[in-house]
Amino acid sequence: MSTFKAPKGTYDLIPPESATFLAVREAIAAPLRTSGYGYIETPGFENVELFARGVGESTDIVTKEMYAFETKGGDKLALRPEGTASVLRAALEANLHKAGNLPVKLWYSGSYYRYERPQKGRYRHFSQVGAEAIGVEDPAVDAELIILADQAYRSLGLRNFRILLNSLGDRECRPVYRAALQDFLRGLDLDEDTLRRAEINPLRVLDDKRESVQKQLTGAPLLRDYLCDACKTYHEEVRGLLTTAGVAFEDDLKLVRGLDYYTRTTFEFVHDGLGSQSAVGGGGRYDGLSEMIGGPALPSVGWALGVDRTVLALEAEGIELELPAVTSVFAVPLGEEARRVLFAKVTELRKAGIAADFAYGGKGLKAAMKAANRSGARYALVLGERDLADDVVQLKDMDSGEQSAVAIAEVLTELRSRLG
Ligand code: HAM
Repeated sequence: MSTFKAPKGTYDLIPPESATFLAVREAIAAPLRTSGYGYIETPGFENVELFARGVGESTDIVTKEMYAFETKGGDKLALRPEGTASVLRAALEANLHKAGNLPVKLWYSGSYYRYERPQKGRYRHFSQVGAEAIGVEDPAVDAELIILADQAYRSLGLRNFRILLNSLGDRECRPVYRAALQDFLRGLDLDEDTLRRAEINPLRVLDDKRESVQKQLTGAPLLRDYLCDACKTYHEEVRGLLTTAGVAFEDDLKLVRGLDYYTRTTFEFVHDGLGSQSAVGGGGRYDGLSEMIGGPALPSVGWALGVDRTVLALEAEGIELELPAVTSVFAVPLGEEARRVLFAKVTELRKAGIAADFAYGGKGLKAAMKAANRSGARYALVLGERDLADDVVQLKDMDSGEQSAVAIAEVLTELRSRLG
């Protein structure tokens, strides 16, 4: 072991488990790729103000969890705690919204950083795959995104997840509700911190997990009763489209989410086998975010699914993904000349798309066959001096142990037909 360890709240992805992470990312991206979403990649850090303004000055993410720092040049930056503000910033900067094809649909995959108290499913460095549809107010886009996330989870074999759905209203109706909720909260027996939160962001108090708070919240005014007609109609349309698509959801009137930019549709994917960190993904509409970061009005909607938690959800359901074989063929040369010939053969196989590996380091037959076994290869190619003289190589089936001589020139054809 070295003197150093992975920093607190982080972990390394190492083989063979890392293959599952790649497969999960790929499974989440697959339905996006075939639904008109283009891939976007933005820097791992941004101007700290982008998140302060976008995610919200009073959110936990900005006040407590951001890795913010000043560079030697005096720039105030932060490691990105989420992707939406960055993606919108990049789309505006590249004028994608002016190309005349709205919504601009983008997907992304990467590392995010939050200085949170680490526990199972909650890390300081984690991984998301996300999607954003920028510049259109249309309930079908909201429905599309929820359907695509549902499709991604189902393609992985996940079943024990639920979709929670709510509407947070818009700039017309939310302020009225906010005031009513504030009035209600001021009359409760709450600690100072919570009272302060009630003044700055009363909706977040609804999300307080403490029983002492939750008990007092029965009877709190519900946003549903304050939604304006436009928001109500919009929400009903999203619900209807999901129902028609056969995607089950639960109305969760207290779902508020921890980021301030949300308006109207908000949703969360929760998995029931994960304990307290049960949200495997979440998202919603953010019609005002563009203006908050200095852009034009661009109503938008998106989500991000947590890769780490999705992997934990697979474990909780006992699902093992069928991963493609890492190595199909393992080559074992015995002697110098055999090494040269077989190395060229492996290169040829790889070029032809056959996953092949090689016994490096001048191993003897026994150690090399052990390596072949460990690699999980279906076939070993063994080349000894006598084989060389006969222009053949021994092709060994690693499952049955059967072995036969194949002409060196015929190896590719033979393996192709055997591997299908
Ligand atoms: P979020 O709910 O903060 O939303 O994060 C989305 C997902 O990222 C969570 O459901 C969870 O699976 C994962 N996640 C968040 N924090 C952690 C952590 N500390 N450790 C492990 N996993 C974590 C957003 O980030 C929004 N940008 C989503 C969005 C996109 N809204 C609109 N567009």
